[in-house]
Amino acid sequence: MAATKEPDNLDSKFYKPADAFFPAYTHIGLTYDDVTLATRYSEVLPRDTQLNTTLAEGLQLNIPVISADMDTVTESRMAIAMALSGGLGFIHYNMPEREQLSEVSRVKNNVHGLIQEPIKVAPEQLIGEVLDLIAKKRFAFSTFPVVDSQGKLLGLLSGHVVKPRYAKRKVAEALTPRGQIHTLHKKELGRDPIARADKFFTDHPGIHKLLVVDDQDRLHGLFTMSDIERITQERNAQFKPARDAHFRLLCGAAVSATRNAFGELDRERILTHVGALVERGLDVVAVSTAHGHSRGVGDTVRMLRDAFPKLPIVAGNVTSAAGVEYLADCGASAIKVGQGPGSICTTRIVAGVGIPQLTALYVSSRAAQKKRVAILADGGITKSGDIVKALALSQAVICGGILAGCPEAPGEVMEIGGKLYKKYRGMGSLAAMKEGSAARYGHAPDPARKVAPEGVEALKEVSGSVDQVLGQLIGGIQSGMGYLGAANLAQLREQARFIRVSPAGQREAAPHDVVEFKTGS
Ligand code: XMP
Repeated sequence: MAATKEPDNLDSKFYKPADAFFPAYTHIGLTYDDVTLATRYSEVLPRDTQLNTTLAEGLQLNIPVISADMDTVTESRMAIAMALSGGLGFIHYNMPEREQLSEVSRVKNNVHGLIQEPIKVAPEQLIGEVLDLIAKKRFAFSTFPVVDSQGKLLGLLSGHVVKPRYAKRKVAEALTPRGQIHTLHKKELGRDPIARADKFFTDHPGIHKLLVVDDQDRLHGLFTMSDIERITQERNAQFKPARDAHFRLLCGAAVSATRNAFGELDRERILTHVGALVERGLDVVAVSTAHGHSRGVGDTVRMLRDAFPKLPIVAGNVTSAAGVEYLADCGASAIKVGQGPGSICTTRIVAGVGIPQLTALYVSSRAAQKKRVAILADGGITKSGDIVKALALSQAVICGGILAGCPEAPGEVMEIGGKLYKKYRGMGSLAAMKEGSAARYGHAPDPARKVAPEGVEALKEVSGSVDQVLGQLIGGIQSGMGYLGAANLAQLREQARFIRVSPAGQREAAPHDVVEFKTGS
């Protein structure tokens, strides 16, 4: 949509485009709840809006949402779920480098629908033991592949024989032998394993499990018909998974500006590790630190850009135009903006530094436009309306807290007072820094030294799956775009008109003077 001159009418005196609105507030830092967006004439239905976004050359997402590189948010499970929904996850670096490589491989090798480590049974087990296992683990299924100690497929134990009356029999006596079960070789899965498995189930009425084997006839994985049916339905969803040119899910990983024992940038270690990540198929690396407008981060980005000319590089965090320009000049493709807005952050309290997020985004975005780099709005998102405001000034948002209660986030569920919670902690919290993230905050990794934490450890109430949480967020973004008459994210940036809200206006925006209840609770 071409930029149009603002008409001189009553609306335009109150509701201002970003370039008129923010410069009028140079004396105060503003964040999401300080402003609201005005509705515009619209011919756009929310459900017809497009949410695809480009973060760098060759790096496109189908939804503008990224999960944060935090050790209580993004490991392979979260990154897989994010990419399946059209977004992206950055695997955190609070783990040994070898482990981060494996996490990236898990995402890149993920075959949606293929259960890569199915529950197996051994031929010498008793059916009674299998029944105990089902009861103990509360499995909702009772058919199991049978393998020998080398993982070689011996047959299938059908649910029809997993009954108490056969409890004393051995699995070997009751299994359907290898020769009678249909399998596929993993090479036969091709580029579209779901379509292949779907065809298999259509061609073989009555068979509900498809076993996949390798060259040595070892069990490589398992498809179930119910999974395939669910996934086939999901395929009609509006937002497709974010994939690379080889149909693999997109994956990001974060690294820090690691220093050696002499306090110098550990160039060799960083280059070797990022090289190994790229070999595993990494799509984008994030040089992720609390202070991106700094020599160490700039040198790291420059070094990576020289070594990997085509690799999309995200760098941060900054909150100034000079910070964006610096990192863009060093070779970053996208810049993370946010210092202190995160739900677990205490940087502003501890260091007295940081900028309310919308002002930071405005200032950064104008520098980014000139340098032709993307902006990622990192931290402080608590509701879908915040995302709509953030996207008026950025290409995507990075979320931590909003995703930390999902089953796909790392960590155990704990029960307190009858409610279920998961741990969520700042990467600058003492506990996280002790486990390795101190470099992100420019502290020595020596746990014996006293460091000033810039984040807290907290709990998040357990939420629905990533798919469900993103479904709500995306619905909200699409509603916002409908109100703005924006069919895509470029139009959202064009159409957004801001106005400051008073404290009374903020109260008015949330439910008030009612007693809320939830249907069904
Ligand atoms: P939300 O609000 O989504 O924020 O929970 C996630 C973002 O917060 C940043 N982060 C921190 N900032 N101290 C900070 O000042 C910390 O300990 C900390 N840990 C994470 C990070 O940018 C993340 O994406």
